[in-house]
Amino acid sequence: MVRMDTVINGTRFDREVEPNVLLFDFLRDELGLTGTNRSCDVQVCGSCTVLVDGLPVSSCTFLAYEADGSVVETIEGIRDSDFYKRAESAFVSHAAVQCGFCTPGFVMTLKSIVEDGGGADEAQLRRSLSGNLCRCTGYRSILDAAAEIVGEQ
Ligand code: FES
Ligand code: FES
Repeated sequence: MVRMDTVINGTRFDREVEPNVLLFDFLRDELGLTGTNRSCDVQVCGSCTVLVDGLPVSSCTFLAYEADGSVVETIEGIRDSDFYKRAESAFVSHAAVQCGFCTPGFVMTLKSIVEDGGGADEAQLRRSLSGNLCRCTGYRSILDAAAEIVGEQ
């Protein structure tokens, strides 16, 4: 077992975990944070994206104990924030959500862009969101929502 002393969505968790437990499984199975989704399991789709110290990571390939000493945010942790309300409004008004499976991952990646100062042109947004895949929308609507959320450069 290895130690994991981590702040997750504002609450400190000081636990012993198996060294092979993925952050994704810890969040869902131990903490019941089921807003983070799994699809590819190989760091391609971005549906499992959470923020670790403000940076987006694929929790499907990130070991839980690697978050020791870090601050982790999931979609549940930002639900009451102004950023979340703005993101929700933009995704809805641009019809950038269909099944919604990918949406938490996109929102967390966009939060990291905003926290980094925001502002991005379409090429930058496409690059920043290239690790998030959507099977439903065709991306145009997501890019329009993303531009509204981060602000045009
Ligand atoms: S499930 Fe983690 S990147 Fe696809
Ligand atoms: S809205 Fe269905 S996968 Fe993106």
